[in-house]
Amino acid sequence: MNIIEISGLSHSYADGHIGLQQINLTIARGSFVVLAGANGAGKSTLLKHLNGLLKPLAGTVRLNGVPVEDDLLRARRMVGMVFQDADSQIVGETVYDDAAFGPENLNWPREKITESVAAALDLVGLEAMAERSPHLLSGGEKRRLAIAGVLAMQPEVIVLDEPFANLDYDGVRQILAQIVALHKAGTTIIVCVHDLEKVLAHADRLIILQEGRIAADGPPHQVVLEAEAYGVRLPAAVRLGGVVESWLR
Ligand SMILES: Nc1ncnc2c1ncn2[C@@H]1O[C@H](COP(=O)(O)OP(=O)(O)OP(=O)(O)O)[C@@H](O)[C@H]1O
Ligand SMILES: [Mg+2]
Repeated sequence: MNIIEISGLSHSYADGHIGLQQINLTIARGSFVVLAGANGAGKSTLLKHLNGLLKPLAGTVRLNGVPVEDDLLRARRMVGMVFQDADSQIVGETVYDDAAFGPENLNWPREKITESVAAALDLVGLEAMAERSPHLLSGGEKRRLAIAGVLAMQPEVIVLDEPFANLDYDGVRQILAQIVALHKAGTTIIVCVHDLEKVLAHADRLIILQEGRIAADGPPHQVVLEAEAYGVRLPAAVRLGGVVESWLR
């Protein structure tokens, strides 16, 4: 069953720049998709159509069969998005308030909000910092907070745009472990990365965008071989004839 169905999706920015051209794509429920492509390929633009943050020039995105634009609130609830820039996502005065911002807008009972936020902060290891100002967190902690804010809303699909940027080895492993655990629990995962090395072992599909179009799409071990043709670095292990190993070992 496809949780996401994209048909004929094109996007044009206000200045006339074409961000996406005729994207057709279906994503199966529970899959772990890696999206790659050079700077400006249209990755973030595509992701922002999944919950209606951008409006298509043409085409439709359907979530469980329902067009995104028919019910934006439903789309935002179903698809949680961790943006490329974690700093820009900070909205609360405390770590707790920040993570609670999403659930507060879902009209849930107070108890459910408190429980869900506490569980999310616990999952990302920030429960002890709940009363701190989010602005004082390190870059990696801010990223974890952004993820907690999305987790707290219990979305069916989690989209992460460059979740590993600026993270140290341990930070990458922590975020990756959370992503993998969510996937195991049934959440559909879409991760956008420049460095395939960090996630490829866990993905079941690799999609490469180039100039607003899908350039390659399929099983990671096959598609990765074409990566360099589209400006995406071939992982060293693959270059040496091997396979990408998990960073969680
Ligand atoms: N608000 C905007 N107005 C005009 N053009 C834009 C706007 N936002 C993005 N673009 C252009 O659309 C294209 C796709 O941008 P997008 O941010 O989707 O790329 P990306 O694949 O996410 O790149 P990166 O790897 O750098 O994050 C780029 O050429 C970009 O310059
Ligand atoms: Mg981007």
